[in-house]
Parts: sequence; structure tokens; C-alpha cells
Amino acid sequence: MNLTNNFPSHVGIIMDGNGRWASKRHLPRLAGHKAGVEAIRRTIEFAEEFGLKVLTFFAFSTENWKRDKEEVEGIFDIVRSYANTDFEELEKRNIRLETMGDISKIPSDLFQKLLEVKEKTKHNTGLILNLAINYGARDELVMCFNNLVKLGKKEITEQDIAQNLYSASLPDPDLIIRTSGEQRLSNFMLYQSSYSELYFTKVFWPSFKKRHFKKALKTFSRRERRFGGNHKN
Ligand code: FPP
Repeated sequence: MNLTNNFPSHVGIIMDGNGRWASKRHLPRLAGHKAGVEAIRRTIEFAEEFGLKVLTFFAFSTENWKRDKEEVEGIFDIVRSYANTDFEELEKRNIRLETMGDISKIPSDLFQKLLEVKEKTKHNTGLILNLAINYGARDELVMCFNNLVKLGKKEITEQDIAQNLYSASLPDPDLIIRTSGEQRLSNFMLYQSSYSELYFTKVFWPSFKKRHFKKALKTFSRRERRFGGNHKN
């Protein structure tokens, strides 16, 4: 597969369908989220093989707090267990950890762990693994505008906004993939996705394999991105 001509730098993934994957198998919803971690592992490996610069996962949204307490705690337990088992290895693989969202509101041990690993990996030069946790684009924009007010800005530029988003150090996503057949952004990177290509697949997130990622990249490589300009022919 020749993807060298038109390969995304930043891919964002809205992992959807964990609950439906589980209920199809008569399993509790959390089993779906657990299986989702395997799909995260596979996807990171594939991103490394392809030399992707940034891979963002929408792990927990500002709206996900509305779910049952048991499910919310269960998701944080899963992220905690991933942090304990995989973060050290990510460090060895030259991966840099980043986060998006107000992580100060998540369980404090996990918050501390994320800060620690972000600090430890900040000079790594390989893949940037960006986890969106307690992230919502509207929340991010409110945070951003409040920062600009605090800075005393009377007039703001696009650059001011970009520099005060959680993603300030990252390029905009070139490609956003959403699994499970739903076709919406659900408050994911609304400002940064202005020119992102969107790719939807019916596959539930836990069943997302390398071949599905490959297909998304192949579709992306065939698209003509015009950024508001003219057609090439
Ligand atoms: C969407 O499926 C999935 C989530 C809201 C949670 C995803 C979280 C994980 C996979 C754990 C994150 C782990 C790490 C290591 C970052 P859904 O529950 O909305 O599925 P449904 O629409 O079928 O109910």
C-alpha cells in the first residue's frame, strides 16, 4: 500500500461501540471497555509501524460523567490498569504521552500518574500518544476564552485560540475515525477539526483491527483536501 504521498500526521479516534460489543456477547458493558484497551494497543502498534506523528484517543468525555457511577469508576480502573502495565513500555518505545481535558477532576492517583508520565516522556521523539480524558470541545473553548480574558486580550486572533487549547502543542487532526456506525463528532476537537477528513466505520471499537485502520488510511490517502481552495482539475 503506497501511503507515502498522502499520509496523515495526526489521527483522532472516537472509540464507540464498546457497550454494544459487550451486550451482543451477553457481557457487562465494562467487558466492552476492557476489550477496547486491546484495540488501543493494536492501534498504537500500527501507528508506530507507519510512523504516525500523533494519535489521539477520546477515552472519556465531559458528558460521560452522566453514566452510572459503576461504569465511570470502571472506566477509570481500566485506564489506571493500562497506566500501570503499559506506560513504562511506552516510555521505552520513545512514545511521548500527552493529555487533553481537565484531568485534575479525575481520581487523584491517576491524575498524578498521568502528570508523572507526561513529564518523563516529554523529550521522547517518536509517536505522540494523546489521551482525551474528561475532555469536551465546548469546555475546552470556554477554558481557552477565559485564559485569554485573564491575559487581558481585548481582541483575539486564531493564533491566540490555537495556542490556548489543550492541543496547543499538536497539529490539527488530519483524519478523525469514529467506530460503531455513528456519524457525529460528539464534542470532539470541534475547533481543530475544521478541515479534518472524517471516516466512519460500522465496526465496534473492540473489534477494530489493523486492517480497519489500514482501510481508513487508504481512504484518506485517496481524498483530495482543498482547505477551501479550488479543485486541482
Ligand atoms: C464508547 O463506547 C466508549 C467509551 C465512552 C469509553 C472508552 C474507554 C476505554 C476504551 C478505556 C480507555 C482506556 C485507555 C487506556 C485510554 P460506548 O460505551 O458509548 O458504547 P455503546 O455506544 O455501544 O454503548
